[in-house]
Amino acid sequence: MKNPMPTVWTLLVSYLFMHGFTAQRVNYNGYKVLRVLPRNEEQLTLLQDIILKGKEIDVWRAPSAVNSTVDLNLSPNSFENIVSELEASGIYSKVLIDDVQQAIYNQQLIENKHVSVMQGDDFDYGKYHTLEEINDWVQSMAMKYKTITTIFNITNSYEGRPMLGLKISSQSEIERKGFWIEGGIHAREWIAPATVIYMAGYILDHYKSDPQMNSLLDMFDWYIVPVVNPDGYEYTWSKDRMWRKTRSRHGVCIGVDPNRNWDMEWCKSGASKDPCSDDYCGPFAFSEVEVKGVADYIMTQTKNITGFIDFHSYSQLWMTPWGYTKELPPDFKQQDEGAMETCAALQRVNGTKYEHGSIANIIYIASGSSADWTYAKAGIKYSYGVELRDTGKYGFLLPSDQIIPSGEETLRGLVALAKFIYNNK
Ligand SMILES: *[C@@H]1O[C@H](CO)[C@@H](O)[C@H](O)[C@H]1NC(C)=O
Ligand SMILES: *[C@@H]1O[C@H](CO)[C@@H](O)[C@H](O)[C@H]1NC(C)=O
Ligand SMILES: *[C@@H]1O[C@H](CO)[C@@H](O)[C@H](O)[C@H]1NC(C)=O
Ligand SMILES: *[C@@H]1O[C@H](CO)[C@@H](O)[C@H](O)[C@H]1NC(C)=O
Ligand SMILES: [Zn+2]
Repeated sequence: MKNPMPTVWTLLVSYLFMHGFTAQRVNYNGYKVLRVLPRNEEQLTLLQDIILKGKEIDVWRAPSAVNSTVDLNLSPNSFENIVSELEASGIYSKVLIDDVQQAIYNQQLIENKHVSVMQGDDFDYGKYHTLEEINDWVQSMAMKYKTITTIFNITNSYEGRPMLGLKISSQSEIERKGFWIEGGIHAREWIAPATVIYMAGYILDHYKSDPQMNSLLDMFDWYIVPVVNPDGYEYTWSKDRMWRKTRSRHGVCIGVDPNRNWDMEWCKSGASKDPCSDDYCGPFAFSEVEVKGVADYIMTQTKNITGFIDFHSYSQLWMTPWGYTKELPPDFKQQDEGAMETCAALQRVNGTKYEHGSIANIIYIASGSSADWTYAKAGIKYSYGVELRDTGKYGFLLPSDQIIPSGEETLRGLVALAKFIYNNK
C-alpha cells in the first residue's frame, strides 16, 4: 500500500514552489517555453482545457483565437505530458526557449557587472535596473532638470515602497494637456520600465537639441511612472524572475493581477476569481493600493489628461480599448488611426513591425484593464495598452542589448502619436 504522505508533501512543495513562499530564489532549470498553435476551434478548446487543468504551467501568452500562437513556460515534469497530449490531438507545437534558467542567466549576467551607484550621467540606459536604482535615477533627473521637472509621489505600495513619477513640463505659459506614461504593471515585463526610462531620459537630455523632443514638451505635460508595481518588480529581482502580479495577500495565494483590478467591467470575463491564478482580478475592484493610487492620482491630481499608455511586453502590439468586449468604442476610429501612425513611425526607425487594434480583438478579452478604465472613467480619449518587443524569441527575457533599440523606436512612435493626438483632440 502506498503511504499517502509523499503525495501530500509533493503537493505542498510544488504549491509553495509555484506560489513563491520559498526563501530561495526560484530556479527554472530544465524549464522550456513551448509555442503552440491551435488551428481550429476544437484545438483551441482542447488547449484551453489542458492549460486550465495543467500543473506547473506558466502562461506567457494566453490562448485567444484560432491561428494565434500560445506560449507556455513548462516545468520538466509537465513538459513531456503536455507535448504528448498536444501530439495526440494533432496540435502543432515547437520549443521557443530550450532552457529558461539559462535565458534568465544570460539576461542577468550582464546586469551583474553594473555599478549600482547611479548619478545622472552615469546611468546606463542599456541595462536593466533594480527599483532602488530607478528611484535614484528619478531623483537625480529631477535635480538635474529642476526647471522643467518635478517628482510626484503617487502612494506607497502594499509593502511600503514609494511609487514615484516624473512630471516634465516646459516653462512656457501656454496651457497644455497631460500625457500619462507608465511601465511595469506586470512585474516580469522588464523591457517596459526600461523603455519608459530610456524615453524620459532622452526627452530630458535632448529637449534643447532635438526639435522633436522640444515639440513633445510644447504639446503636452508629461507624467511618467517607470514602475507602477514596485513590489512585484522587486520580487522579480530577488526571488522569482517570472512573477507577474502584485504582492498583496487576500487569500491562500499571493498577489493580484493589477491589470485586471481596475474598476471598469471588473472581473466580468478574461480575468480569474481564483487567488492563485496569474489573472486574479482581486477581491474587489481597486483592491490593489498601487492601482487605486494611480487611478486616484489621475482623477484628483491631474487635469485634462488626454493621452495614456500602459507599457507591457511582449508581442509588439499597439492596442486600444475595449479589453472587456470585442465591440468597439465610439472613438475607436481615431484611437486606431493614432495607433496606426505610431506603428508606422516606429517601424521607420529600424523595421520593427507592430500590429494595432482593440485589445479584445487583437489578443484576448481582458476586463478590468487600465486602458478601459482610463478611457471610460477618466475620460482619456487616447488610452493605449502596448506590448513591446519581442514576438517570442526571448519573450520576457529580452536581452539588455535590445533596450536602447526598443527605446529609440518607441520614442519616435510616441512623437508621431503625440502629434496625432495634439491635432485630433
Ligand atoms: C487557420 O489556418 C489554417 C491553416 O493555415 C487555415 O486552413 C484556416 O482556415 C485558418 N482558420 C482561421 C479561422 O483563420
Ligand atoms: C509618498 O506618499 C506616501 C503617502 O501617500 C508617504 O507615506 C510617503 O512617505 C511618501 N514618500 C515620499 C518619498 O515622499
Ligand atoms: C482643463 O479642464 C478644466 C476643467 O476640467 C477646464 O476649465 C480647462 O479649460 C481645461 N483646460 C484646457 C487647456 O483644456
Ligand atoms: C537595427 O536592426 C539591425 C538588425 O535588424 C541591427 O543590427 C541594428 O543594430 C539595429 N539598429 C538600431 C539602431 O536599433
Ligand atoms: Zn503585461
